[in-house]
Amino acid sequence: MATLGAVSYDRYESLFYETSPTGIEGLDQLIGGGFIRGRTYLISGETGTGKTLISLTFLLQGALKFGEPGIYVSVDETYEQLVMGAKRFGWDLEELRAKGLIEVLVPEMDLIERLREKDPTAIAKSLIASLRDYVAALNAQRLVIDPIAPLVTLDKDVQVLREYIRVLVMGIEREIGTTNIVTTEIPSGSTAISRYGVEEFLATGVLVTGIARTRDGNFKRVLFIRKMRWSPVSPGLYEFEIVPKEGVVVKSQIKEPLMPVTFLPFVP
Ligand SMILES: Nc1ncnc2c1ncn2[C@@H]1O[C@H](COP(=O)(O)OP(=O)(O)O)[C@@H](O)[C@H]1O
Ligand SMILES: [Mg+2]
Repeated sequence: MATLGAVSYDRYESLFYETSPTGIEGLDQLIGGGFIRGRTYLISGETGTGKTLISLTFLLQGALKFGEPGIYVSVDETYEQLVMGAKRFGWDLEELRAKGLIEVLVPEMDLIERLREKDPTAIAKSLIASLRDYVAALNAQRLVIDPIAPLVTLDKDVQVLREYIRVLVMGIEREIGTTNIVTTEIPSGSTAISRYGVEEFLATGVLVTGIARTRDGNFKRVLFIRKMRWSPVSPGLYEFEIVPKEGVVVKSQIKEPLMPVTFLPFVP
């Protein structure tokens, strides 16, 4: 067998990236066809900027358009809150669950207490082991963890949470193989693109969501394509809309001057 350095050609063939369309209207053509299979993408933004709706659009369109079942891990909302919110939006998560297209998982309430008291590596690993079983049972191709770490945290938790996030993301990529979205909430007033300062480095791509105001006083929802590793993408700011039943729809690139209402990179 021919080899290329230490890597055989067989192995080399399989190293070509296979992309999977997100199914989010308007986004795939901007990012070279979709997300790289098996990788993790970060959506960061302040509260109410559309992170959850983008994540759910990824799962629902994946299931409905491409027959790829997905798992949604709801870290800060109860199952009932999520299902009721989605229903108001025109999405019947219970029906999709009954059809085996989606599973919703809610971590045990005491996740943050356990993280404080115990080894974050051990907790991330046990979560990965349990995710692996759910992924196998559903044959899931997509996974969302929203948000990647519980929101109610103290300053002293930051180191612990960084370790937890690192082990979780790397373990999911190594051991589970789904294409993933994780979200992180940028605290209001911060100019960092993640909450814990590690999420963007672990992710293959980063999308920042926000709200901005145009000169004529209108508000727009905007998406900044911040990073898309191995994809021919020009960073830019795009308008998006939230359309009931459809989910998030990405529109044209914004060229006009904007005033940020929430933090957006490179919008002064
Ligand atoms: N049916 C709807 N039609 C249009 N916009 C909606 C609808 N439901 C929710 N939204 C908008 O979506 C926003 C919430 O988005 P969400 O994805 O939950 O944000 P995040 O997860 O970033 O906090 C709300 O602030 C609301 O303005
Ligand atoms: Mg949310």
